[in-house]
Amino acid sequence: MAEGREKTARHFPYHFQLYNFGWKQYTLLAMKRLLAKEDVHRRVGRLAREISRDFAGREVLLVGVLKGAFIFLADLARRVSIPVQVDFVRLASYGAGRESSGKIRITKDLETSVRGKDVLIVEDIVDTGLTLEYLFGRLKARRPRTLKTVALLDKPSRRKTRFRPDYVGFTIEDRFVVGYGLDCDEEYRNLSGIYVIE
Ligand code: PRP
Repeated sequence: MAEGREKTARHFPYHFQLYNFGWKQYTLLAMKRLLAKEDVHRRVGRLAREISRDFAGREVLLVGVLKGAFIFLADLARRVSIPVQVDFVRLASYGAGRESSGKIRITKDLETSVRGKDVLIVEDIVDTGLTLEYLFGRLKARRPRTLKTVALLDKPSRRKTRFRPDYVGFTIEDRFVVGYGLDCDEEYRNLSGIYVIE
């Protein structure tokens, strides 16, 4: 029974969200699936193996960029075979909207020193690249032994910098995606797959 339901979910590429805005006022939002939970799981496993090979014999400090990276980091941390420490940063770009304005600041800093450590910044998505480039520069100045970056999703067509992550899960087109940590106005971070909102 459970297996049947899982199969149906796998082959039905939409997620529907029903909103109740009061008495008999409903809105139905359809999102098209871009990556099924199994695709993400498989890719995260491969990334974890690659990272474990590259950092063999060392301990790595995983730096998650809140909030979007929290699920990716949680899965990656459990699938690498090397010892890891975990810490988080939160960044904000001035100005509202879907796009980074370019002026970025740290609103929650690391609680761990990176000096002399092998550090891997964990991002959910690289869009313009401004966030990751800024964070990379800030952490590099604190003299880690090595500093690398991994992003589950990469949208190179949107890039405003020359920054390229060391490890990428999936290269995607310029679509607004949610799920697996990514949000739209703070909703849908808890979806297991990745969906496109048109
Ligand atoms: C998203 C994402 C990256 C950043 C990428 O974060 O998690 O951190 O944008 O954009 P960029 O490459 O154009 O700089 P967001 O600001 O949406 O915050 P969130 O992670 O809390 O959702």
